[in-house]
Amino acid sequence: MYNTLLVQTENGICTITVNRPDKLNALNKAVFDDLNTALDDIQVNDNIKSVIITGAGVKAFVAGADITEFSGLNKEQAKALAQRGQDTFFRIENSSKPIVAAVNGFALGGGCELAMACHFRVASENAKFGQPEVNLGLIPGYGGTQRLVQLVGKGKAMELLMSAHIIDANEAKQYGLVNHVTTAESLLERTKEILTIINSKAPLAVAGCIKAANAVFDETRDGYSAEIDEFGNAFATEDMIEGTTAFLEKRKADFKGK
Ligand code: COA
Repeated sequence: MYNTLLVQTENGICTITVNRPDKLNALNKAVFDDLNTALDDIQVNDNIKSVIITGAGVKAFVAGADITEFSGLNKEQAKALAQRGQDTFFRIENSSKPIVAAVNGFALGGGCELAMACHFRVASENAKFGQPEVNLGLIPGYGGTQRLVQLVGKGKAMELLMSAHIIDANEAKQYGLVNHVTTAESLLERTKEILTIINSKAPLAVAGCIKAANAVFDETRDGYSAEIDEFGNAFATEDMIEGTTAFLEKRKADFKGK
């Protein structure tokens, strides 16, 4: 079904592996097409509660947009390329199901942008993050200038963007770019442990948290109003009745996602 992704679902967690290891998993048109197909499936597939995005091989998460696709592009074609990337990454950011990046090596350029579009990031010790576009006479085009500022603050983001400086996993953790650093061997297990906890919570409430938190960065929405809306929506769910009843009855809640 996919040419450039490995997709496997186990215990409600769908692991999407970008699978072009000989090109350090660089994002070309085929990867974007496959990612969009996978995102379509994730939204409708009831077996999937949450998602991990990672890269094939031991060296790279994703080493960027595929630079071979840049040659010969004019201004309008370049803008269309950036739009395609941004649209796909918006879908990841606004997915109602949690999507977490398990960063297992180079996350450069579009790879760093992909990781930042995910809801949060777990990194292996050998992970490296950066936006090296200025080395190529470019700037990030898949949301990197925006999400890096959101995640690490303007000063640190400006320096990373302008210098093309690459940071390692521990620095990325200090910057707030990643939540956890693990060994390469335990990266997927650690990420799955976190998602297993999240998967045990009320899915519609988790989706409400994503929507309200994303509203902080959405100029068309007032985040506090978004929170009120999502809080109200939660009260119209069966899971809210189950969750509050289970607490009062001193038992574990059995959430149905309704
Ligand atoms: N686009 C297209 N191909 C890429 C790529 C990218 N972003 N990143 C790596 N590759 C390819 C290389 O061209 C090489 O292909 P080849 O074997 O056919 O020559 C293969 O992946 C392996 O990469 P290589 O550069 O040989 O590995 P390395 O260990 O020497 O260096 C990096 C690793 C990540 C430092 C280096 O590949 C790099 O700088 N990549 C580009 C990063 C970048 O600028 N990303 C932003 C793009 S906008």
